[in-house]
Amino acid sequence: MRRGSIAQLVGIGLLAGGIATAMAVFLPWLPKPASREAGRIDFVFWFVVIICIVIFAIVAAAIVYSVTHFRAQPDDLSDGPPIHGHTGLEIVWTIIPTLLVTAIGIASAIVLSRDDALGKNVLRVNVTAQQFVWTFSYPSANNLTSATLVLPKDRSVLLTFTSKDVIHSFWVPEFGQKQDTVPGIHPTLHITPDRLGTFPVICTELCGLGHALMRTQTRVVTPAAFTKWLQTEAAAIASPNAGTAGGAVFANNGCGACHTLTAAKSTGKVGPDLDKLPAEAAQAKQPLATFIHDSIVDPNKYIQPGYLKNLMPQTFGSSLSKQQLDALVQYLIDSSKK
Ligand code: CUA
Repeated sequence: MRRGSIAQLVGIGLLAGGIATAMAVFLPWLPKPASREAGRIDFVFWFVVIICIVIFAIVAAAIVYSVTHFRAQPDDLSDGPPIHGHTGLEIVWTIIPTLLVTAIGIASAIVLSRDDALGKNVLRVNVTAQQFVWTFSYPSANNLTSATLVLPKDRSVLLTFTSKDVIHSFWVPEFGQKQDTVPGIHPTLHITPDRLGTFPVICTELCGLGHALMRTQTRVVTPAAFTKWLQTEAAAIASPNAGTAGGAVFANNGCGACHTLTAAKSTGKVGPDLDKLPAEAAQAKQPLATFIHDSIVDPNKYIQPGYLKNLMPQTFGSSLSKQQLDALVQYLIDSSKK
């Protein structure tokens, strides 16, 4: 092979590799990781991407060079030379991919086992998925429930999933992992958040009419802020003041994601506007308290005109205690009359 040809091959390879590298590095393909697990997964991702870029550069150089140098003349109708394989070449192109794929397998296995290894002082959180709400409860804090997932930074967190109806899938892009929630089993997911911030929680399995709305947030806070948050939430729920307790039930069950209620500073538009409850009860020809109570425990009994059936979870009748339900009804009566 002439020296000029080698220079051309190398030049094409560097150009193709440079373009691929620029696209990999400068386009924001992945969010910035916010957990140690996501950081390790990113390492595997880049390991594979670098291998791919090198192979792409070699293949691109060979193809471009061949197309420009070995093109048949328009009047050349002869057959190419018969080739019966090349044992040395076949061994090389079998061994190289075998080594690369084995290396990727080993790197992935190490990352998977380290991602699954629980740290000390694990915080356990039970995650319940249902059409179309996420709720998070903290067994270490008397099963305190919350509609947002609040987590302390740099602590090992084990999420245990329960689905009340169909298959959903838990996804926080910044945590780099997804976990399906399957009715009848309780999968787990280990996360060690390592960056403060608020990140989206997304349902990433088509689960029905409200799938696209099945979103909430996770907040990663300092350990001190986390302890304080647990105490504040517990105090609000235990409050003898029905307004405070009802407000906590409203906030912790994700009601604000779908409903507007000025008192709770929520602006959801999926379900009826709760500021207008008295007018809506009058339209349904029902007493306000009965109307609110029945709409929570049996939402399909009466559908506000203009809204869809089966969007409101059917399970609040069983998931809320009588005290919680009474507090919530009283809270909605008081806040909607203001
Ligand atoms: Cu739940 Cu999609």
